[in-house]
Amino acid sequence: MKNIIFLAPPAAGKGTISDYLVKNYHYEHLSTGDLLRSEVASGSALGREINDLISVGKLVSDELIIQLVSSKLEGELKNKPFILDGFPRTLNQAQKLDEMLNNLHIDDVVVVYLDVSLDILLKRVLGRVVCPDCKRSYNLDNPLLKPQVDNICDRCGAILERRADDNEEIFKERYQTFLLSTKQIMQYYDDKKLLVKVDGTKELNLIYDEIESIIGISTLTGKRGEK
Ligand code: AP5
Ligand code: MG
Repeated sequence: MKNIIFLAPPAAGKGTISDYLVKNYHYEHLSTGDLLRSEVASGSALGREINDLISVGKLVSDELIIQLVSSKLEGELKNKPFILDGFPRTLNQAQKLDEMLNNLHIDDVVVVYLDVSLDILLKRVLGRVVCPDCKRSYNLDNPLLKPQVDNICDRCGAILERRADDNEEIFKERYQTFLLSTKQIMQYYDDKKLLVKVDGTKELNLIYDEIESIIGISTLTGKRGEK
């Protein structure tokens, strides 16, 4: 199974697809957004600094995020298949990630770009609720993605929340940040022949099928995930 880097705009489905892959194939999921939100929730001084940036849709510093990812890759993620969700987002982060992967002798990586248009992303952001404990995403506007019991996480029973940055104004900032920084690194990965584009507007089961084939899960062996 290949290691996966998700390159995608906000609300494209990175967390949702990661959740499926973790459940079915035991990937380690590293979401830089979740890590940053945990630091904010801790109330630390660093958390307050981070909050000043993410609450207006700006990126936190490359230095901080690279340090965070590096310690995870060299620590709990070592020798395990992993998903990077939300990293890298700048060319500098992408170049530093190359160095980290080289040092760890990891070359089995695919970069999956989830392509979703702005209007669909905005709808998803406005309908999303998340579990503060297990981080699962739901969508109140989609019957297939709603929780079974209103406001309660199906998996762990916690009360669902809206993310503080899930409103139209901040979403537009996040999307601009994506266009200005993250989209630039598509070319970087395309040049390295690592980039695969997936239509992120399709039904999730079809996306899961496509990603399973990209990461080398065989349909012939019948080894498919539970949708
Ligand atoms: P982060 O948490 O990574 O936010 P994001 O990139 O904006 O992505 P989201 O988590 O909003 O979306 P997602 O793609 O995970 O979508 P989801 O699966 O939930 O980052 C937050 C902030 O932290 C950044 O803005 C930045 O400030 C900072 N940060 C993070 N990483 C950083 C870095 N490397 N450098 C610097 N700063 C960093 O799905 C969305 C909704 O759509 C859900 O409701 C879901 O149910 C629904 N859905 C998903 N797929 C489908 C589908 N196929 N069809 C219909 N509905 C779907
Ligand atoms: Mg996410």
